Amino acid sequence: MKPIEYIAVETIAEACNVLAEYGADARVLAGGTDLLIEWRRSSTKLSKVVLDISRASELRGIIESDGSVTIRPLTTHSNLMRAELVQKFARLLGTAAAMIGSPQIRGRGTVGGNVMNAAACADTVPPLIALGASVRLQSRRGARELELADLFLKPYETKASRDELLTAIRFPKLAPGARSAFIKLGRRNALSISRLSVAAILEVGKDGRIAEARIVPGATFPTWKRVTEAEGMLLGEKPGQKLFAAAGKRVAEEMIKASGRRWSTEYKEPVIAVLVRRALEACASRARQGVSPVRFKGEVATRGDAECVALRSRTPTSECRITTTINGRSHNLTIPANCTLLDLLRDHLGLLGTKCGCEIGECGACTVLLDGEPVNSCLVLAPQVHGRKVVTVEGLAQDGKLHPLQESFLDRDAAHCGFCTPGMLMSAKALLDWNPRPTETEIRTAISGNLCRCTGYQQIVQAIAKAAQ
Ligand SMILES: Cc1cc2nc3c(=O)[nH]c(=O)nc-3n(C[C@H](O)[C@H](O)[C@H](O)COP(=O)(O)OP(=O)(O)OC[C@H]3O[C@@H](n4cnc5c(N)ncnc54)[C@H](O)[C@@H]3O)c2cc1C
Ligand code: FES
Ligand code: FES
Repeated sequence: MKPIEYIAVETIAEACNVLAEYGADARVLAGGTDLLIEWRRSSTKLSKVVLDISRASELRGIIESDGSVTIRPLTTHSNLMRAELVQKFARLLGTAAAMIGSPQIRGRGTVGGNVMNAAACADTVPPLIALGASVRLQSRRGARELELADLFLKPYETKASRDELLTAIRFPKLAPGARSAFIKLGRRNALSISRLSVAAILEVGKDGRIAEARIVPGATFPTWKRVTEAEGMLLGEKPGQKLFAAAGKRVAEEMIKASGRRWSTEYKEPVIAVLVRRALEACASRARQGVSPVRFKGEVATRGDAECVALRSRTPTSECRITTTINGRSHNLTIPANCTLLDLLRDHLGLLGTKCGCEIGECGACTVLLDGEPVNSCLVLAPQVHGRKVVTVEGLAQDGKLHPLQESFLDRDAAHCGFCTPGMLMSAKALLDWNPRPTETEIRTAISGNLCRCTGYQQIVQAIAKAAQ
């Protein structure tokens, strides 16, 4: 990784001061799941200063007020998918969050990072725009609020100035009668970005006719927007397959109007039409059945913020002194600011059990537990583990006795070349710590961020199930 200067702040005011001072030279770091990859891929030094906001408690939480819900930017995707307020007033947002990446990515990636990164495939953006969300941008000059749909200039570019911090995302609660859906098309179920997606909201009146319709496709238009032409076709009509199919066709036509016919149109045109129809059908069937709570299992529960002593440096520094507990042992370390947790474990501490595979969050070989949650250590900046607890595969065996999961992996021949095994074991441990009796689906979900190039999944799933008995 390129050399960086690092500074951690605890308040919005401190963050705004750093941004005012360094402007275009500074980059905000939240979960780091986009930023660390951007760093690795860029051949030049990206920014002089990395401003770590992950310790700012003012930027965490989901708050209900009269008629609206405010989501603070450090809310992770895992937080979103489990939050009752989201299930009650913005169900489609929880559904979208649950489809992001893998358990490791959802536990670390934040909604603020997803919005500000502004990738065309960002999964939380279509639901938030359908909900009518606005964002609050704050700087030392003051604060301003704008509609989320107006924030974006083009993929990866927003209207936020370099000295502005996203501090809140607010949207009106969905009406009790409104039903919503989010559908995403990817190449596989986990670790797959959206090729196309659709967020839809439908409200059917007492007369059985559609009173409110909102459709926001993802990765379809140059930036996100409601497709009012298709929404208008639905209003006042009775829900039905033909109507929904016509609305889907209309969205496809609008897509072609906006982007012209391209090599991908032959594929995208029918697919976006079908996705829109399916999303509307899902809303309509929920309207008929009433809402049932969505439960996403197979992931560890949120364990509140770790008690942590903040880094004391008040100016950016290229070397950080951190105190962290690894496998139960406290370490005081001086490390380069651009060191990842993976580098720290392998290169500084000689803990070679944690493997280095892709370094872009896709293989899970580097999975360790950070305050009990599975994370890709290649995507965690080491200064961010100051004051926190890390457990690696070396920490599983106790008093010379293998962990039941390790015994079970041996019994079931669940390790072939063994490269994925440490990461698999850590994801499995996170699952069993939270849910000692998981179902097979829960086991498969929990290891969906871990790839086995020997494809020994069957034995791995069986070994985890056996350890749980
Ligand atoms: C393997 C993998 C799979 C993924 N799968 C998906 C997927 O399925 N769907 C999806 O949508 N995304 C996916 N992502 C992308 C990523 O995880 C999300 O975009 C995530 O929400 C980013 O949040 P973060 O906290 O990690 O952001 P960071 O990487 O910390 O920051 C991202 C950007 O936002 C800026 N930023 C962050 N917070 C603020 C703030 N408060 N104010 C101003 N600027 C800010 C940063 O400066 C940076 O430019 C995936 C990533 C990986 C590595
Ligand atoms: S996910 Fe970290 S090395 Fe592959
Ligand atoms: S056992 Fe070889 S990668 Fe999984």
